[in-house]
Amino acid sequence: MKTKLVIIGITGDLSTRKLLPALEQIISTGDFDDLSIIGVSRRELDIDNLLASSLGNTQLSGCISGFSMDISNGEDYMRLKDFIALGDNEQLLIYLSVPPVATPHIVEFLGQAGLNMPQVKLLLEKPFGVDLESARQMIDHVAKYYSEEQVYRIDHYLAKEMTQNIVAFRGGNALFDHVWNKSAIEKIEVVALEKIGIEGRAQFYEQTGALRDVLQGHLVQLLALTLMEIPRDFDWNDMAALRLEALNQLQPADPSRAVRAQYSGYQGEVSNSGSLIETFAAIELTSNSPTWQGVPLMLATGKSMDRKTTEVRVYFRKNHEAQTNRLIFKIQPYEGVEIELYTKKPGYDREFERQRLSFEYPEEIKLPDAYEQVIVDAIRSKKSLFATGNEVLRAWEVLQPVQQHWDMNSSDLKTYSRGADLYTLI
Ligand code: BG6
Repeated sequence: MKTKLVIIGITGDLSTRKLLPALEQIISTGDFDDLSIIGVSRRELDIDNLLASSLGNTQLSGCISGFSMDISNGEDYMRLKDFIALGDNEQLLIYLSVPPVATPHIVEFLGQAGLNMPQVKLLLEKPFGVDLESARQMIDHVAKYYSEEQVYRIDHYLAKEMTQNIVAFRGGNALFDHVWNKSAIEKIEVVALEKIGIEGRAQFYEQTGALRDVLQGHLVQLLALTLMEIPRDFDWNDMAALRLEALNQLQPADPSRAVRAQYSGYQGEVSNSGSLIETFAAIELTSNSPTWQGVPLMLATGKSMDRKTTEVRVYFRKNHEAQTNRLIFKIQPYEGVEIELYTKKPGYDREFERQRLSFEYPEEIKLPDAYEQVIVDAIRSKKSLFATGNEVLRAWEVLQPVQQHWDMNSSDLKTYSRGADLYTLI
């Protein structure tokens, strides 16, 4: 089926850093000749210039056109509709690559202009609200114009190659499948640490913080993939329902098991000497499910840490120290799986030593970027890697006690030096 993709906000940071390079890759496979792209911007746009400055030499110029409009003017959406001129056997993907405050109005205007026919899909970027109530309002608002089937909520962590591999690895290896429960597993850590700070996104970050920016969506979803049941027949269509089931079994977060901190220098960077926004957040969750009851589930994320790493670490129960087996899903920057185990240290003495069994994709294998996967799956109507409204709401519900506690108390905000180590903060 012929696909038209409209990107609202084509000149923005997400579009130039992620979407255009992803589209370039997709087009270069030669499998998507039926895809054409319309880039919407406020000002008159020289598309070739934009492509040249963000991609250099590109194959995209042949299949992309520009359209300028005022996104706060309803009539302009009628002009956009005429410009798109969607044919009978065509589908339309509308990607909102805009600041979150703009989303509700744009959705309303699109709906009023009739750009919500059944063959239209709406791709939305996080954050989906800032708390349970605002997320509910946003989901209800979008539902006035688009059915849940038409809405593709992007959490790009779900579409990372190694994230998908958590499910494949668990289901594809009987060795681990049989011990994936509280009897064998002592604790699980899901961490996403970054060396970079807020990179000039002062306004965004001041309204967001680490809990909302990364923990609520990205890390909670990684946890869901780690805890959920694997469908025996590997039907990826069941994934969203299974993730939700795992989320539904989480206990609401306990504020006394949460830590927040801010790196020193942050307040100067955002020109707000009283800012209480956390650049580091960690929480310990527990699950009520019979499989996971009693297993601590730690989620942590931070900016300006000592390293860039995203990992899911699974610790197995042990009888003595030299049995600490740890399975690590390395999501980035190196993609692979590592198992720490103990063997006999060579020599006359009978001692143990720690060894690693590991697998990493060789550097020459270019793994698809998450945004390539997101766009391809949306074209193909595959929804398993998109967050449903119920998952979004449940994630906010679990975190709500911590959010409320942090809103009402300021005394527990710690400060850390740039380059801090995770375990010194928790
Ligand atoms: C985004 C956050 O969702 O994810 C950023 O808004 C964060 O603050 C980014 O840096 C991390 O994504 P990735 O793919 O680089 O790990």
